[in-house]
Amino acid sequence: RIRQRERLYRVNEEAAELYHRYLLNAEAARGAREYLRQRDVPETIIRTYRLGYAPDPEVAGWNFITDTLRRKDLPVVAIEQAGLAVRSDRGTWYDRFRDRVLFPIYDMTGRVVAFGGRILGDGKPKYMNSPESQIFDKSRILFGLYQHREAIRRQRQAIVVEGNFDLLLLAVHSIDNVVAPLGTALTRAHVRTLRGYCDEAVLLFDGDRAGLKAAMRSIPFFLAEQVDARVALLPEGDDPDTLVRRKGADAVLELVKAAKPLDEFVFEALVREHGLTLEGKNRIIGELRQVIAGSSDEGQRSLMVAHFSEKLGISPGQLLSGIQPGKAAPE
Ligand code: UTP
Ligand code: MN
Ligand code: MN
Ligand code: MN
Ligand code: MN
Repeated sequence: RIRQRERLYRVNEEAAELYHRYLLNAEAARGAREYLRQRDVPETIIRTYRLGYAPDPEVAGWNFITDTLRRKDLPVVAIEQAGLAVRSDRGTWYDRFRDRVLFPIYDMTGRVVAFGGRILGDGKPKYMNSPESQIFDKSRILFGLYQHREAIRRQRQAIVVEGNFDLLLLAVHSIDNVVAPLGTALTRAHVRTLRGYCDEAVLLFDGDRAGLKAAMRSIPFFLAEQVDARVALLPEGDDPDTLVRRKGADAVLELVKAAKPLDEFVFEALVREHGLTLEGKNRIIGELRQVIAGSSDEGQRSLMVAHFSEKLGISPGQLLSGIQPGKAAPE
């Protein structure tokens, strides 16, 4: 099993290097370089994060990475287990990542465990990640934590954004205490990981319903891990990438400074959404119950009940009735 893991690391490492060199040098990667230029990602950032490009099959065929790695004596089963090769019905293999900009995902010892890939234009799916494997558990790994661990430790603070480009563009503007989950909601394991580096997380989620949902669901995790969490509301339609490009680093740092404690933020957002009419309160109670049920700890559930019922001006019993423990949000 150890041998198997070592092989997966080697496959990912060789692939990261190949994709990276291809992006930097290949004539056929001109479009990918142009795409990154348009998104204001400079070559220094391409090198720091070792961004890559998986070529278009019309230029490089359907087996670019699979064949190159096989020629380096890496067994095709390992390439498949790493998620870089996909087995077809005919029993042959083709490349999973094609015509995409690639972001290598590192573990905390600096080994590549997976890739995230973005299509160059508007096609679907917009993002594609490596499947989970013996070395990649996406509910634990945060993009950028390896590169940014020292900055996060120094500032005792981690900024959590939703997307890969959000992280890169903040780095372009010298904000580098940033991490991003890989297309999943923040998990308790993510928060536990962060706790090893900082005392406080500031969530800079997209200003949409999905962003609010994600913030809400993470309340029990921060409580359980005793990491302080604050949330900043981005202007509607913005994400950190677009905001920092339009308004610069200072605008983002202002938002971070003014970020509100997670529970206050969630409560105010719910009141804004539903109002404090009878009907509104009823809906808010429904949403808060789900949040509370996401905690597996009895003591923390009653703490949240006491806290939110007081804010709502109802009795703990009224908020509590009907809550099933630990159901809504598994780790
Ligand atoms: P967003 O939809 O906010 O994408 O998803 P984005 O980062 O702003 O994308 P750009 O700016 O158009 O490039 C946030 C993150 O969720 C994951 C990706 O990690 C993305 O960065 N995601 C999104 C997926 O894994 N799959 C998808 O289809 C979409
Ligand atoms: Mn600080
Ligand atoms: Mn979004
Ligand atoms: Mn974006
Ligand atoms: Mn976004």
